[in-house]
Amino acid sequence: MTGSAPMTMRALRFHTYGEPDEVLRLETVPVPRPGPGRIRVTVHACGLAPADWALCRGLHKGELPRGIGIDVSGTVEAVGDGVTDISVGDVVLGTADWRGTPTAGASQHAIMDRWTPVPEGLDLVRAAALPMAVDTAHLHLSLLGMEPGRTILIHGAGTTIGYAAVQIALLRGMRVIATAGETYAERLRAFGAEVTGYGAGMAERVEALSGGPVDLILDTAPVGGALPDLVRIAGGDPKRVLTCGVSGVSEAAELGVRTSFTEDRSGHAADALPEFARLAAEGRFDIPVAGTFPVEEWETAYTISRSNQAHGKLLLLP
Ligand SMILES: NC(=O)c1ccc[n+]([C@@H]2O[C@H](COP(=O)([O-])OP(=O)(O)OC[C@H]3O[C@@H](n4cnc5c(N)ncnc54)[C@H](OP(=O)(O)O)[C@@H]3O)[C@@H](O)[C@H]2O)c1
Repeated sequence: MTGSAPMTMRALRFHTYGEPDEVLRLETVPVPRPGPGRIRVTVHACGLAPADWALCRGLHKGELPRGIGIDVSGTVEAVGDGVTDISVGDVVLGTADWRGTPTAGASQHAIMDRWTPVPEGLDLVRAAALPMAVDTAHLHLSLLGMEPGRTILIHGAGTTIGYAAVQIALLRGMRVIATAGETYAERLRAFGAEVTGYGAGMAERVEALSGGPVDLILDTAPVGGALPDLVRIAGGDPKRVLTCGVSGVSEAAELGVRTSFTEDRSGHAADALPEFARLAAEGRFDIPVAGTFPVEEWETAYTISRSNQAHGKLLLLP
């Protein structure tokens, strides 16, 4: 391992599972050392999202205490054994090792298990908004199949995952129909998507746009309830619908809809982050930033996120 070693840091973490505002604490803890194949960064920005709250509530249970904050940008300050592609002082974006250490990205220093250099021209806040949105959108589109010319509906395109999925599917040559609220509807149209609102009457509006059954559907909405409509839009075939939210899992099982948690991911491990970081630096790809907060104000970010009205990425600046 190389690099200087600060002794302690502030980190947001939990010691028991439960509601985030009940179990999360901002603590002073030892700075972790990067193990083999890991790096440690001084965190510049760290995204917080529904996925982080799901970890607090017990998704992917493991050893405790554990941190939150998966999306990270920062400056490399130490590298573990076997790391040869990055050096101390480099600036990276990627994912915090939230399973392998007792802290994650919502800290002054973080251990990262995946990274790519921040391309010139991409600022560090926008960089930290990318990893989860790109990774999740790209993986789920890959599971569905990204064939040029096919029509895909992205339900919940105002989420960061859905917003990424719309852009990726369009860049891969698909026809994209999207459901979204007003905040980003015009921007989604400018990318090339056909956009309508979610909520009452959604199935009829999408069918009017599509002119027939839609080939593939990715559900990225933060709340459940739309799957029966989505199966109808897919011509009654639940296997053309894939949902990535935790909230839709039991409804998906009843309907036979595919979910993130039941898919075989082998063969779908392509790392799309370097490509989309480069496109973001060139102004050809974007995840909107809704707000940045000092780490002491994490509860404000949580309250906004929990309302399901974040309208972009929420980031801590530790
Ligand atoms: N399986 C995985 O690996 C994985 C990984 C990450 C996230 N996820 C899941 O992906 C989903 C999106 O995550 P995220 O972090 O991108 O969420 P997010 O950005 O925090 O989602 C908030 C947005 O949802 C939209 N929204 C609110 N109510 C909606 C409704 N009823 N229908 C459709 N859209 C609605 C709102 O946008 P507008 O109203 O402006 O449209 C709002 O800005 C979550 O369910 C999350 O758990 C899964």
